[in-house]
Amino acid sequence: MRFLLLLVFYQCVMENVDSNRTSNPNFILIMADDIGIGDLGCYGNKTLRTPNIDKLAKGGVIFTQHIAASPLCTPSRAAFLTGRYPIRSGMAALSQIGVFLFSASSGGLPSEEITFAKLVKQKGYSTALIGKWHLGMNCDTSDDFCHHPLKHGFDYFYGLIVTNLRDCKPGQGSVFATGIQTFITMPIQIISLTLITLEVLHFIGLLRVSQRALGYVILLSTSFLGILLFFFYNFRYLNCFLMRNHQIVQQPLSYQNLTHRLTEEAVQFIGRNTDTPFLLFMSYLQAHTALYASKYFKGKSKHGLYGDAVEEMDWSVGQILDALEKRDLSNKTVVYFTSDQGAHLEEVSNTGEVHGGYNGIYRGGKSTNWEGGIRVPGLLHWPGVIPHGAHIHEPTSNMDIFPTVVNLAGAHMPTDRIIDGHDLMPLLQGKIIQSKHEFLFHYCNAYLNAVRWHPGNSDAIWKAFFFTPVFYPEDSNGCYHSHVCHCHGSYIRHHDPPLLFDLSRDPEERNPLTPETEIRFYDILNVIQQAISNHTKSLHVVPDQLSWGNILWKPWLQPCCSSVFLFCYCDHESRE
Ligand SMILES: *[C@@H]1O[C@H](CO)[C@@H](O)[C@H](O)[C@H]1NC(C)=O
Ligand SMILES: *[C@@H]1O[C@H](CO)[C@@H](O)[C@H](O)[C@H]1NC(C)=O
Ligand SMILES: *[C@@H]1O[C@H](CO)[C@@H](O)[C@H](O)[C@H]1NC(C)=O
Ligand SMILES: *[C@@H]1O[C@H](CO)[C@@H](O)[C@H](O)[C@H]1NC(C)=O
Ligand SMILES: *[C@@H]1O[C@H](CO)[C@@H](O)[C@H](O)[C@H]1NC(C)=O
Repeated sequence: MRFLLLLVFYQCVMENVDSNRTSNPNFILIMADDIGIGDLGCYGNKTLRTPNIDKLAKGGVIFTQHIAASPLCTPSRAAFLTGRYPIRSGMAALSQIGVFLFSASSGGLPSEEITFAKLVKQKGYSTALIGKWHLGMNCDTSDDFCHHPLKHGFDYFYGLIVTNLRDCKPGQGSVFATGIQTFITMPIQIISLTLITLEVLHFIGLLRVSQRALGYVILLSTSFLGILLFFFYNFRYLNCFLMRNHQIVQQPLSYQNLTHRLTEEAVQFIGRNTDTPFLLFMSYLQAHTALYASKYFKGKSKHGLYGDAVEEMDWSVGQILDALEKRDLSNKTVVYFTSDQGAHLEEVSNTGEVHGGYNGIYRGGKSTNWEGGIRVPGLLHWPGVIPHGAHIHEPTSNMDIFPTVVNLAGAHMPTDRIIDGHDLMPLLQGKIIQSKHEFLFHYCNAYLNAVRWHPGNSDAIWKAFFFTPVFYPEDSNGCYHSHVCHCHGSYIRHHDPPLLFDLSRDPEERNPLTPETEIRFYDILNVIQQAISNHTKSLHVVPDQLSWGNILWKPWLQPCCSSVFLFCYCDHESRE
């Protein structure tokens, strides 16, 4: 009896130790933009210097099969914040454009979606987003902020509503020059043609309309054209601005000291919250184009401006880790590092400099579901609680952060919806050895592109592709004709039977299996078909946040920091 009591007592003490250390940790969730798994020292890069990120890896766990829920920014970030496939929230496009491009469009993360920030905030956490959002801003007016970070659980926001783009930095070229030129030129061509036709018909007497009606048509069309041209030439002013909470503080944004400013914001946020639990989502603009680096990093790396940008971001990570150490918070803080998707291989500057990163041995890159597009860096660091220097080779997802954070913060998981992520702690603490992600569904926008199956008690990782992007040039590793790969029509090639790989033997996805080389070929595909049918049944129809109507520019939604609409300019950021 006494022994039993002692045991109970002992267990209580042990649980106390354990729960004191593991309850209400702080969270610093770092997301880089477009950084490839092959860019970091801890994943084998020998020439790009990332000592601070490598330190994070050494003191924590390295995931070698960490999978982004989508190979594009907007859907990948929506999935990260909600723990759900983007198709469930309407953040996967049915049309060609899979991301938001304008600050004045009406789509965004719906307010019914629950982010981890919202849940931990209810548990008393201070929450901040510093850096890029890319999940919408307004719905009906230029200041309803229906999709704004502050509506989604963040107490504090400093950063960019849309995304860093070449068009935001003078002299860096334009993404509109190649991919979405049609946005501008097609309406112009249609209107001009219509006008000319009308004029001609009127002139030769085939069209009987009053001079006045014709005048109105011409006036309307030219105003429309004028607005379009105005928009195009003012892109930088209208879309590239920095906000602090609801206020625009710099329009257009300046790249001067930008990484310093973001870092300072992060360090100050940590400083304000040394005594209360906090969650910081540090969402770097680097290394998306337009690339930039401060004078301390420019020209210093062995990999051009791209390398400079990554090395500066690594410096910033170091500053944040230092701030934790100085305040004795390292053991109380879970630090996560990832990239929203793989490196953007097609990013080459107009002078031919490589502006995209490196995906190591993996095929393809951003905008494809080849491993290069979705197998991203994944590091978790929590001294004293999770092992250090360990590698986990099981499939994990960026959607797993949601349940992991929510559970550790002592918040309740939503019960009214499907959460696709799984808590990482059991895997990290060795309580289970097999990932709960038996299946992962890889979408290209709203189209199911491939399925990954990791059967229980087996090393195999089957991946079946129903279509693959058509690379151009054909023998290359990307879609160099259109800046990104697309998900439909002549941009893809269908496969029936699907292309099947075993990633455990063929991580480079070079040798598709056949019924001859894999006797279980059709059995494997059958199971995958069943999984798809189960998954598909769990989906509900929701509004498409990336429909044309939701992504096009709506002038009445245009945020502008000066009262004169035509001159959106302000700078409250200049420092003495
Ligand atoms: C756990 O935390 C409580 C409250 O802060 C404290 O009273 C207790 O001594 C701690 N237990 C251990 C084992 O550190
Ligand atoms: C390191 O990263 C750079 C920049 O992306 C890349 O060009 C290079 O090939 C990588 N080197 C190795 C050894 O992985
Ligand atoms: C943090 O945890 C590590 C590993 O358990 C331990 O060695 C170290 O002393 C702890 N540091 C502090 C400040 O508690
Ligand atoms: C699909 O769902 C059924 C019914 O819940 C289940 O028995 C079956 O194992 C599932 N199949 C797969 C491959 O997940
Ligand atoms: C940029 O940072 C440097 C060093 O901290 C400082 O000397 C300089 O004034 C800053 N420039 C701006 C525009 O903030």
